[in-house]
Order: sequence, then C-alpha cells, then structure tokens
Amino acid sequence: MGAEPLEIHLEQQDLDRGLREDVRVGLTATPKWLPPKWFYDARGSELFEEITRLPEYYPTRAERAVLAAHADDVAATTGAKTLIELGSGSSEKTRLLLDAFTRHGDLGTFVPLDVSVSALRGSTEQIAAAYPGLRVRGIVGDFTRHLDRLPTGGRRLVAFLGGTIGNLLPVERAEFLTAMRAALEAGDWLLVGTDLVKDPAVVVPAYDDAAGVTAEFNRNVLRVINRELGADFDLTAFRHVAVWDPEREWIEMRLRAERPTRARVLDLDVAFAAGEELRTEVSAKFRPEGIAAELRAAGFDRQEFWTDPDGLFGVSLARAD
Ligand code: SAH
Ligand code: AVI
Repeated sequence: MGAEPLEIHLEQQDLDRGLREDVRVGLTATPKWLPPKWFYDARGSELFEEITRLPEYYPTRAERAVLAAHADDVAATTGAKTLIELGSGSSEKTRLLLDAFTRHGDLGTFVPLDVSVSALRGSTEQIAAAYPGLRVRGIVGDFTRHLDRLPTGGRRLVAFLGGTIGNLLPVERAEFLTAMRAALEAGDWLLVGTDLVKDPAVVVPAYDDAAGVTAEFNRNVLRVINRELGADFDLTAFRHVAVWDPEREWIEMRLRAERPTRARVLDLDVAFAAGEELRTEVSAKFRPEGIAAELRAAGFDRQEFWTDPDGLFGVSLARAD
C-alpha cells in the first residue's frame, strides 16, 4: 500500500500566524531570538540532511550506531503495534527500527510527524515503497502543540530521535515530556535520542563546519522570514556563530550582525547594532542521569540506556508508568 495522504494539523495560515507571533516576540526582545522550528522549509530540511553527512557532525552517525546495535532490543521489548516518530525529517535512521520490527513483531502502522511538509512527502513515499504492508500515516504538525492528536489504541512506541529534544529550552522540555506522557497510556513506550555532554572541542566544530553548511542552515531562517513575511533582511550582514555555554551545557547558534543593519519585518523596523546577535537555536547536551530524572519527573520509567562505542550519543527507552 502507498502512503496515505498527509494529515494536516498545521495549515499554511497557522504557520504564517505562528511565524508572525514568534518574529514579533523574538525580534523585539533583548537579546533577540527565534525558535529553531522555522529553519525547516524545503531548503532548510535539505540543508539539515547535508549537515548529517558532514565529517564534523557526529550525532547522526553515533545515533545510527546505537540503533544498529539495539533496534532489535527495542522491537522485542516494546512489541509495539504503532510507531510514531516526532520531528521525523527523512526518517532515514528510523528504517533500522522498521527493519527490526519486520524481523520481530507485528508493527502495523508508522506515523511520522513533522512541521516540514516537504520532508514528510519524501519520507512517507519512500518508507511506504520500502515496507509494503506497513500503513504509513504522515502528520503535518507541531510536537509542542499537537501531541493530543496522535493515533490512539494498540501498543505505541514514540520515537524522538536526533537529539531534537535538546532544541527545546528546559521549561519547554519539561512541558513536552508531560504532554507526551498525557498523550500515552501506561505501558506505551518512548525512545528518545540525546546528544551527550563532551569536550567542547568536539561539539563546536559540529555546529560550525569547515564547508559552511551549518552557516547556510542558520541563515536560512532569515530567508524564510523574508519570503513568508515579505521582510528584507540582508543575509550578507550576518555571520554564523556557534557558542558553547559551559554552565547550561548547551551550544547556541547565533547570527551576528557584522555591521549595523536593519530590516522591515511586519510593521517593525528591526535594528541590529554591529556585533549584535540573534539566537536561533540551543542544542542541549545531556548527562545520562539527568535524562533519567527528567523522564521520571514526567511519569516515564527508563528501562534501557544505550550509547555508541565512543560514548558520544545516548538513546533512552522509557516506559509510560
Ligand atoms: N529526526 C531526524 C530529523 C532531525 S531534524 C533525525 O534524527 O535526523 C529536526 C526535525 O524536526 C526536522 O525535520 C524539523 O522539521 C522537525 N521539527 C522541528 N521543530 C518541530 C516542531 N515544533 N514540531 C514538529 N517538527 C519539528
Ligand atoms: C535537529 N537538531 C537535533 C540539530 C542539532 O544538532 O541540534 C539541529 C542542528 N543545528 C545545527 N546543526 C544541526
């Protein structure tokens, strides 16, 4: 069977409204900031895929190694009938899980959810073609808003891979996990990938690669705002910056104005002084015991924690209590 038509919980008008609100709040704040979900138009999603292939960007390779080693354990332990994937992107690594479920259980349905329509279109068609017999129901939605709309019934496994949970601020993360638990039944499962705290000399280049792909990805948010809101950001005025915050144990991506510049956005006249920065993303790095505690606080019991051989990236398998 082919992929089912995408289920749309975010229409263009919702996206426009959300972007307008975020731009108004973030660009009038001091310091200026934007939420990272706006990177991912078609070009942003492609740039992210390019990032995953960069020599400096270890998280994707490390998480793939964990899944290659333990996907069978995930399938056998959870016995899931429905696999839901949040922020699914290309769902490339998820194939390791789907392969394991093909060997072990009787998974019937795969439900990838993403804000990026283009990423979902590609992934759902490809997965449906590669796994005949699997029901593929793509959902265009926001995992910070639409968890109550996930399919119910059957034993469910929710996968949240890539370390994307680290792109939420700590308060948002706690809210997300609480909402996630509320959307699940006791006995359902959550599989969550987290990048681990390590030497900043390894982390920083992963977010500031020599080929400049991450810089393009970062600047893409301004391209999205220019196109969607008719703004006039001068992209050449901004330099990509990646900064490790040792206290909060996260890396921030920022866009630094290299010279004074201004942009008309909505009814705002947004001025940047030379050197002024706009925060576009945080990417938190985790400690194994910290993740378990956050899961516990939200009503999950972590049953397994696996890392790749180099200890770069961790994957937790937790059961809803
Ligand atoms: N899971 C994939 C992709 C990670 S990139 C991997 O591990 O490689 C992050 C993905 O999350 C992108 O596809 C992006 O479009 C999506 N995303 C970001 N914020 C989102 C949100 N609030 N709701 C739904 N999807 C979101
Ligand atoms: C999607 N997310 C987990 C990526 C990360 O590493 O935080 C996004 C990214 N930002 C810069 N490079 C990749």
